[in-house]
Amino acid sequence: MGNSFAGSLIVFEGLDGSGTTTQSGLLANYLKEKGYSVLEIEEPGGTTLGRAVRDLLLGDHGMDIKPLSELFLYEVSRAQLVREKIIPELEKGTVIISDRFAISSVAYQGHGRGIPIDEVKALNAVALDGVEPDATIFLDIDLEERDKRSSGEKPDRIEKEAREFYKRVREGYLEEIRSMDEAILINGSLPKKEISRRVISRLQSELL
Ligand code: TMP
Repeated sequence: MGNSFAGSLIVFEGLDGSGTTTQSGLLANYLKEKGYSVLEIEEPGGTTLGRAVRDLLLGDHGMDIKPLSELFLYEVSRAQLVREKIIPELEKGTVIISDRFAISSVAYQGHGRGIPIDEVKALNAVALDGVEPDATIFLDIDLEERDKRSSGEKPDRIEKEAREFYKRVREGYLEEIRSMDEAILINGSLPKKEISRRVISRLQSELL
């Protein structure tokens, strides 16, 4: 990677309420101030097709989406995002910051919904076309913290899931993260600014 973040793909992952969106924004601002060309994306979403799929996945439409159909929908969004945005922008030297990526499917559809992990990974591989994050930052919060942060907000279709589901998702995330070389685990219960400071310092020591 040399002495620059240019052309790198940095991913934030975590349970709902862990702060992935806030931290993606803070990192993007920091890198823009340093003069980088930055693209912020989210999964599902990030393209016109992806946003339409996001509405299907998270909207309040009452459809009974089966686990495998749900996985395919996430992969549709991912396949489009990789080809329409990620590959061309990385080639231009843009730093891409993604609020969630393929590990979300392993954690939520694999560990959470019970789809065999190797099947989820096989579909991810097709959608990703060889693209791999340079760093994956996992913002870890426990279930008590998740409950606290989600109370008061109107839950989307995924957030309506029971505590047991989120327990499996968190365990799945931790298992995946431990087996990955480029993963950075950060305590997501810390104050926002402290998390951001740690994110930047870890990225500097691991990517530059
Ligand atoms: P968010 O943008 O608010 O984080 O919402 C995305 C939701 O979709 C969140 O509950 C996590 C879930 N999700 C999956 O279940 N699988 C996936 O592959 C991705 C990207 C997200």
